[in-house]
Amino acid sequence: MIELYNVTKDFGTTIAVNRLSLKVTRGEIYGFIGPNGAGKTTTIRLMGGIIEPTSGSIEIGGIDMRKNPAAAKRIIGFVPDRPFLYEKLTGREFLKFIADLYGVEHKVFSVRAGRLLSQFGLDEWRDEIIEAYSHGMKQRLIIAAALLHEPKVLVIDEPMVGLDPAAVKMVKDIFRTLAAQNVTIFVSTHTLSIAEDLCDRIGVIHRGNLLAEGTMSELNQAAHTGRAGLEEVFLTLVREA
Ligand SMILES: Nc1ncnc2c1ncn2[C@@H]1O[C@H](COP(=O)(O)OP(=O)(O)O)[C@@H](O)[C@H]1O
Ligand SMILES: [Mg+2]
Repeated sequence: MIELYNVTKDFGTTIAVNRLSLKVTRGEIYGFIGPNGAGKTTTIRLMGGIIEPTSGSIEIGGIDMRKNPAAAKRIIGFVPDRPFLYEKLTGREFLKFIADLYGVEHKVFSVRAGRLLSQFGLDEWRDEIIEAYSHGMKQRLIIAAALLHEPKVLVIDEPMVGLDPAAVKMVKDIFRTLAAQNVTIFVSTHTLSIAEDLCDRIGVIHRGNLLAEGTMSELNQAAHTGRAGLEEVFLTLVREA
């Protein structure tokens, strides 16, 4: 559902992403980990069609992002690292605003918004203005908004930053539910325990280079770390890079 072929993104002399190739299959949760400045956000913005690669190509659900960006983007639910919310709107009004942007019909919207608000534990808050929401509630609302058009692919940058443990659990459970419904999820994080716990496969990016990817046991093989946890694998890979 997501395929990157040899994708490079330069910003002047900075090579943010260097000849990156990866594939994520339907219903898979792929975690993208790396230190600050590694190239995670740039990769996510490339996948979302927010920026264009310097070279290489990106396909979402088999659609080339450069040739047919509108069709590719319709398949994607996109959650940026610093999302923007109109805080004077209520939760439901915000969802309606986003649904209108996506051209979701009103009747369909009503059903989906009701389901999402309840799934995300926001039912009782639907008619409160967003300003009054906690950080975790805002994050859940943002993810709910990204799901209104029923995307097949969810691309999400650092969703767990600033969330308390209960909110992290709720978001993880939502991702698992979506994956079970065959939604493909690409999630960046610098919280290794979340990646280890949540993701089917993990890619480790460092200074724009994909150092290794795979399941935990494949990563352990690549790093020669036996049966170590992700932290040791990660530190070994980065040290040797
Ligand atoms: N718009 C930009 N202009 C110039 N440099 C950028 C821009 N966006 C990202 N970079 C640089 O690209 C590198 C990767 O950044 P980023 O993708 O944000 O990393 P991460 O999300 O892993 O922390 C960094 O060196 C960053 O400074
Ligand atoms: Mg980032």
